[in-house]
Parts: sequence; structure tokens; C-alpha cells
Amino acid sequence: MELKVYKDKQEVAEQFSTYFKEKANSGEFHVALSGGSTPKIVFDVLAEKFSDEIDWSKIHFYWGDERCVPPTDDDSNYKMTVEHLFSKIEVPEANIHRVLGENDPSGEAMRYANLLEINLDRIEGIPQFDLVILGMGDDGHTASIFPHEIGLWNAEDHCVVATHPDSGQKRVSINGKVINTAKEVAFLVTGDSKAEKVKAVLGKTAGSEVYPASLVNPTSGNLVWFLDEDAATGLSPN
Ligand code: 6PG
Repeated sequence: MELKVYKDKQEVAEQFSTYFKEKANSGEFHVALSGGSTPKIVFDVLAEKFSDEIDWSKIHFYWGDERCVPPTDDDSNYKMTVEHLFSKIEVPEANIHRVLGENDPSGEAMRYANLLEINLDRIEGIPQFDLVILGMGDDGHTASIFPHEIGLWNAEDHCVVATHPDSGQKRVSINGKVINTAKEVAFLVTGDSKAEKVKAVLGKTAGSEVYPASLVNPTSGNLVWFLDEDAATGLSPN
């Protein structure tokens, strides 16, 4: 596991974008994107500073989690990605594999799991991404696995239907086995509201097991945490 701490959200986004360019320029590349405010800045940086340095035709885009809303809804992670990335670069439509948020959640979770099983290499039957990008919500959720539904992490199905604890919004999320099968897992965590949970997860303190981030432990892949100083406040300097 590698820990990279940078001054602020913008630097996290820029440093991660350099990491992404290096990983993505290695032939066909299957990446699971995340929603959130940090990826939003990453997409702006990729589109504005790296668009000519990446062969977008080799990259296949998926989502590690998506809200069960139409693609035109402001809550849609796909919509955010179109606005901040796809509207600014040339990506073959066939390379964009969105979760159909307008569909019935259970049926869509099954459909998406099948899509992953067809499109990706499988390790012991589990679809393997080249890269999974993750974040951590203020409530400690990662992808769309929430602490109150931590059992979804070990679900047999590769894609699960999660429920937001406050709004009740349904979401489709990849499960822990898919995340831990990836060749690379990159956490993008910024802001002081995450500091306590980052400290608990990285310090493996009692009670942190309710946070899905504490269960991210790639079977054979690499795990890199990209943090800003605010999110890393609670970590001991070394
Ligand atoms: C989602 C996101 C979510 C995100 C966190 C962190 O759809 O809710 O995928 O898991 O990673 O909310 O978001 P920030 O980047 O805003 O901290």
C-alpha cells in the first residue's frame, strides 16, 4: 500500500492524473470511475492538461458505483463525467459502459455484473479491472457500499443494489471482491471531514471495520491512497 499526501484537492487531482496517464497508456485499459467532488476535478485536469497525451481509444470506462437515476439527473455520476470529461475529449461511444440508472436497480445490477464478466478478464471468476478509482464519503461509504450495509461488501453478486441511508436512493455498486481483484486500486480522499475515518482505517483501529475502505486489500494488485493534507491530518508523520 502506498500513501501519497499532497497540499490540496487540486494537487491530488493533478498528481493522480499523472498516475492515470502512466497507467492508461499501456494498451487496452478498463477503468471503474467514481463519483464525487475529487474525481470531478480529476476529469477537468485530464481533459484540459492530458487530453493529447492519452490514447483515449484504448480506454474502456465503467462506474464502480452509480445512482439509480436517469443519465440526465444531476445526481448521475455518468452525467458528471460527461460534463467534466467526455464532452471535452474524443472517446468512442462503444468504450463508455454506463450503468443504466433509469432501469430497475436489481435487474440493472445483474445486467452490469454480466457486462463486467463478458468484457473483463476474470480471476477465479471475478472480473478484473485494470484500475478501480475509489473515494470516501463523509459518512464513510466507498463506492456505494455504506457502513449500514457493510454486508454488501462480501455479496456473491459482483454488482449489488445499495440504499443511501438518508435519502433511500438506490445505487448499483461493484462489491468488495471485484474491487480487491483489480490490478490497481486508487483512493482519492480529500477534506478534513474525512480525516478521522482515514486515521481509523489506515490505523486499523477498533470499529473501523464498518468502513468499506478498511476492507480494501487487493489480492494481488496495488493500492495507492491519494490524500490532501486535510484528510491526512490524523496520520503520524513518517
Ligand atoms: C458516490 C461516489 C462516492 C465518492 C465519495 C467521495 O457516488 O457517492 O462514488 O463514493 O467517492 O462521496 O466524494 P468526494 O470526492 O466529494 O470526497
